[in-house]
Amino acid sequence: MAYKAKAARYEAMKYRRCGKSGLKLPEISLGLWHNFGSSDNYKTGRETVLTAFDAGVCHFDLANNYGPPPGSAEITFGKILKQNLMPYRGELIISTKAGYDMWPGPYGDWGSRKYLTASLDASLKRMGLDYVDIFYHHRPDPETPIEETMTALADIVRRGKALYAGISNYNAEQSARAISVLRALGVPCLIHQPSYSMLNRWIEDGLLDVLEKEGTGCICFSPLAQGLLTGRYLNGAIPAGSRASKGVFLKPSSITPQLVKKLNALNEIAKERNCALSTLAILWILRDKRCTSVLIGASSPSQLKENLTAVSQPPLSEKELQNIERILQIP
Ligand SMILES: NC(=O)c1ccc[n+]([C@@H]2O[C@H](COP(=O)([O-])OP(=O)(O)OC[C@H]3O[C@@H](n4cnc5c(N)ncnc54)[C@H](OP(=O)(O)O)[C@@H]3O)[C@@H](O)[C@H]2O)c1
Repeated sequence: MAYKAKAARYEAMKYRRCGKSGLKLPEISLGLWHNFGSSDNYKTGRETVLTAFDAGVCHFDLANNYGPPPGSAEITFGKILKQNLMPYRGELIISTKAGYDMWPGPYGDWGSRKYLTASLDASLKRMGLDYVDIFYHHRPDPETPIEETMTALADIVRRGKALYAGISNYNAEQSARAISVLRALGVPCLIHQPSYSMLNRWIEDGLLDVLEKEGTGCICFSPLAQGLLTGRYLNGAIPAGSRASKGVFLKPSSITPQLVKKLNALNEIAKERNCALSTLAILWILRDKRCTSVLIGASSPSQLKENLTAVSQPPLSEKELQNIERILQIP
């Protein structure tokens, strides 16, 4: 398929500086954790990625283990690059990660230098790239000295295989330590990737303060709570094909009557400003300037388009924020 990116692609999207770095990221980025495996529909995935790029979403987030099977999302993305996006490589921020179980034996998991180095080489091969823009350590490793993991990240950056280093799922204390080790090695920690949504607020308890103090950016994953904060589950049922219907990462048992009541109350606020619940959830994250980008997933171009409307919405007012807070505080 011949593809020419929309000339107006940067007009509607807004960009935020990532911590104190030189890099800006779109307020909304697209992740390929789900929907891009070898058993997913390639055409839908490609259309979703190209729709994103045409709307100024120039950041795509991957990891070695995204699929299923692990590695296949990078292969899918490599195919989209080769067919359509490679002419725009200089406009793209592509990230990948290593830190979870990827291959058998002692070197395919956690945070050793051996694992990170071999994993990034394999990711680059799958995507057909010479370098990624951001390489993350995917989760803290309780056994490997943090110096070893951070030195591996710093060396990867020095060798030009990644332009920036990042960490993911580190708590406030672990982040402060990792950032300080990286700084001593002369490679700043560009970004942290934690989970964050209206239903999951752990980063407000110290992590955001650390990141602000250190000048590290923050890209928030699962901002729609894997689809709960969208129109998908408002009637309490589990639609066929939805993430909850697969029952692996989002359990049907988490969709309780109390939660459905809360989601509907939030949806009333969304309706008052004539937007979707997903849009409200994204705007709520963007209220905090320390959040550089909201890292969404989407299983179709239409979901993506609905979520992108957040960029053209006015920010949430004090009154709306208070009303949301009141609903979120209900047990
Ligand atoms: N660092 C980490 O450890 C980590 C962990 C998890 C995720 N991530 C990153 O964060 C990205 C996003 O995570 P996520 O997929 O959990 O994010 P999310 O945005 O909270 O959930 C995305 C899912 O919600 C549903 N959805 C999205 N928009 C919708 C809409 N407008 N209407 C109805 N349903 C909608 C879709 O699921 P269905 O249509 O399938 O129901 C979609 O796949 C990942 O791709 C990955 O890059 C990182």
